[in-house]
Amino acid sequence: MPHPDVSAPASDDADWWRQAVIYQVYPRSFADSDGDGIGDIPGVTSRLHHLADLGVDALWLSPFYPSQLADGGYDVADYRDVDPRLGTLDDFDAMIREADRLGLKVMVDIVPNHSSDQHVWFQEALAAAPGSAARERYVFRDGRGPDGELPPTDWPSSFGGPAWTRVPDGQWYLHLYAPQQPDFNWDHPEVREDFHTTLRFWSDRGVAGFRVDVAHGLAKDLSAPLRDLGEHLSYQPGALPLDGSHPLWDRDAVHEIYRGWRQVFNAYDPPRFAVAEAWVRSARRTAYASADGLGQAFNFDFLYAGLDAAEMREVIGSALADAERAGATSTWVLSNHDVVRHVSRYALPAGSTKHDVEDWLLSDGRTPAPDMATGVRKARAAALLMLALPGSAYVYQGEELGLPEVADLARADLQDPMWVRSGGRVKGRDGCRVPLPWTREGSSFGFGPGGSWLPQPAGWGAYAAEEQRGDKESFLELYRAALRLRRALVTDETLEWACSQERTAQGMLHFTRTGGWHTVSNLGDAPVPLPEGEVLLASGPLSGDALPPWTTVWLRSGEPSEN
Ligand code: GLC
Repeated sequence: MPHPDVSAPASDDADWWRQAVIYQVYPRSFADSDGDGIGDIPGVTSRLHHLADLGVDALWLSPFYPSQLADGGYDVADYRDVDPRLGTLDDFDAMIREADRLGLKVMVDIVPNHSSDQHVWFQEALAAAPGSAARERYVFRDGRGPDGELPPTDWPSSFGGPAWTRVPDGQWYLHLYAPQQPDFNWDHPEVREDFHTTLRFWSDRGVAGFRVDVAHGLAKDLSAPLRDLGEHLSYQPGALPLDGSHPLWDRDAVHEIYRGWRQVFNAYDPPRFAVAEAWVRSARRTAYASADGLGQAFNFDFLYAGLDAAEMREVIGSALADAERAGATSTWVLSNHDVVRHVSRYALPAGSTKHDVEDWLLSDGRTPAPDMATGVRKARAAALLMLALPGSAYVYQGEELGLPEVADLARADLQDPMWVRSGGRVKGRDGCRVPLPWTREGSSFGFGPGGSWLPQPAGWGAYAAEEQRGDKESFLELYRAALRLRRALVTDETLEWACSQERTAQGMLHFTRTGGWHTVSNLGDAPVPLPEGEVLLASGPLSGDALPPWTTVWLRSGEPSEN
């Protein structure tokens, strides 16, 4: 591959991501071409027309790299290859070519906080002696206690249990996630250089951007002696210190790493784009999204806001303000591979917390009994709300089909390390990763010619893309219509609220965007009057002049009117 011309002027396309719709593909669960039950890259290629037809701008592929799947692929053994079960680099290139032909951009997931324990550097580190250079690329330390039998610090793993595992020679290594995911030492120049090489490797192959996993974790305070968290230093993202003083998360030094990445990105035309998965206080999100940093950062507040109108308005307002401060655009997410699918979340009683949702999963989706009709209604209303907001919308595979969470997976089928590491207290994320249905009947409902790595429920075929196409009432057609209209309607990056805070307190959100595009959501239990205008799209049936509960409508009119 020729190296890009560093002096090439940025093309007009440089801002493609600012208001893009990006579709998240979880490759193992998207489409399987060879019948081994695991989705693969040729499977993705074979279904790209679905994404083009849906009307998204880009796809982001969760990890497809060689991995022992200790954490669904987020344990990467080789950053510059394709897992043989998922295909080859040639398959990847063919996918990029087909995406390009269909006008779709491709983003890949980069996992810089930790590798797999199968990575050649970690294997080298294990084979080397304590204190050796090979161990310096990771975080090896002696333990505490008379024989070093206690972990070096009290740091917990995000998946449960301690963040340290002992190796046979007595030293311990750090893993903020599963033991098979050793954390890199980002103070090491070789680690920094190797990630630049990886970013160039995929950029040279034509990827348009990167989703950066655990972007807030890289720059740890590893100076001796390591600091315990004790009782004062929370692990919860919402309670991290605002001054960047936590020993592990969201330290200011992380931005120096991304400034280096930005130089790599800007050597391409158009510059490569990146979005940070950073679980940080919203006030500190802007640094990740800045133009000399990654460029954009996920905002999960929208996902966790429930569908309370007042909370939504607050979250939308602050996300837009944060993004503007960073010179970026905001992101909007309702679902991804780490959370319970939103149709099911919204089917639980209003006000259910993350904890309530976890308990519901542990009950195999029985207690409380989900109200699926309400969940569907709310999910449709939320989709039209999200897709009308200025910024980038991230759609998780199957969301366009209205897939619910598969909450009743048998314990024996669970693969997520959270299940085991939490000692059975957290069921984990498998229920949103069940392979997609493409056809009503057939082996694995069209997922592939064989089975599927997680069992699909009976009746999964009713959600199939094939089943929904052409049915005006379907989720798929709602998303298709919305994305088609959005392309025509989106102009600048602003919105104006067109209803009072009092109205919002009663459940109403109404905003306009330049060009006379109105979005009105009724997130309350009683009908509200429908503002005047031509109805372009509605998430559910309208009744005369009223907007029924849990419905969003897009309208076009001349001037916005104050409600
Ligand atoms: C991110 C990923 C999640 C993974 C974790 C560790 O949060 O989204 O799936 O388990 O990082 O890599």
